[in-house]
Amino acid sequence: MPARIAVANQKGGVGKTSVTLGLAAAASRRGDRALVIDLDPQANATTALGIEPDDAALTVNDVLAVSRAGSLGDVITASAWEGVDVAPSTLDLSNRDLDGAHDLPFRLREGLQGIDLERYAVVLIDCPPSVGRLLLTGLVTASHALLVTDATADGLRGIGNVESTVELVAKHMSPGLRIAGIVLNRRRHTGEQDYREAELREAFGTLVTDVVLPERAALPAAHAAAQPIGSTANEGARVLTTLFEDLYADVLARTATAGVAS
Ligand SMILES: Nc1ncnc2c1ncn2[C@@H]1O[C@H](COP(=O)(O)OP(=O)(O)OP(=O)(O)O)[C@@H](O)[C@H]1O
Ligand SMILES: [Mg+2]
Repeated sequence: MPARIAVANQKGGVGKTSVTLGLAAAASRRGDRALVIDLDPQANATTALGIEPDDAALTVNDVLAVSRAGSLGDVITASAWEGVDVAPSTLDLSNRDLDGAHDLPFRLREGLQGIDLERYAVVLIDCPPSVGRLLLTGLVTASHALLVTDATADGLRGIGNVESTVELVAKHMSPGLRIAGIVLNRRRHTGEQDYREAELREAFGTLVTDVVLPERAALPAAHAAAQPIGSTANEGARVLTTLFEDLYADVLARTATAGVAS
């Protein structure tokens, strides 16, 4: 069973989607198959993977809504990236954050049980920047949470909050859930950010990955063009491609040793 990794932080804009896509790109470069489940109604991962949300016949919302218009197997489709499949999102998914159905957070996990996951090296779940039922759905479905933050005071506070959310979910809803790591993204070399990184490492120790992702314009450019990082040859893309390869190897090792709940 591959690790099912919820890439999460309730703080917006820290790089959850970029890390999801960077790990998917690294899997693809290695010849691994990856499944990306887009749980964000903004559908940024879906779009970057070359699928227009309005053109998707079925989306994750069809698995989660009470009407259950499709099974997860019907929803998963090949993306424009070699070796990467996607369960696309759409704006309608925002209705699920207000959906009070008691079993809602478990529907995606149930849906995954009907999928042959062995063909994937990893399942990546891109979570929305909210503390609602979609985040719960992602965490309940996951074997591990990978937390992403920027090196700011707000970002670090966000990590404390999401860590508490993960602990609550592990305690009450999904006992096997573990935090695989914390990734610093959009790192700029300022004294302020040096200080915040030191603070994060002091608080969370080896949970913080050695790989730190710098701010590079090549990343938004690649995703706007629906291309994996690594498909362009400029310096920023080369730096990030190598770092995502290292991060992917580290995350696979962390999820293997932390024990993957079945
Ligand atoms: N390392 C980076 N270098 C440069 N730009 C980046 C980097 N990481 C993310 N960005 C850009 O910052 C913006 C926010 O990133 P992203 O969408 O990945 O964050 P997010 O946490 O998924 O946001 P949301 O909370 O809205 O889902 C995007 O425009 C993205 O391209
Ligand atoms: Mg996002």
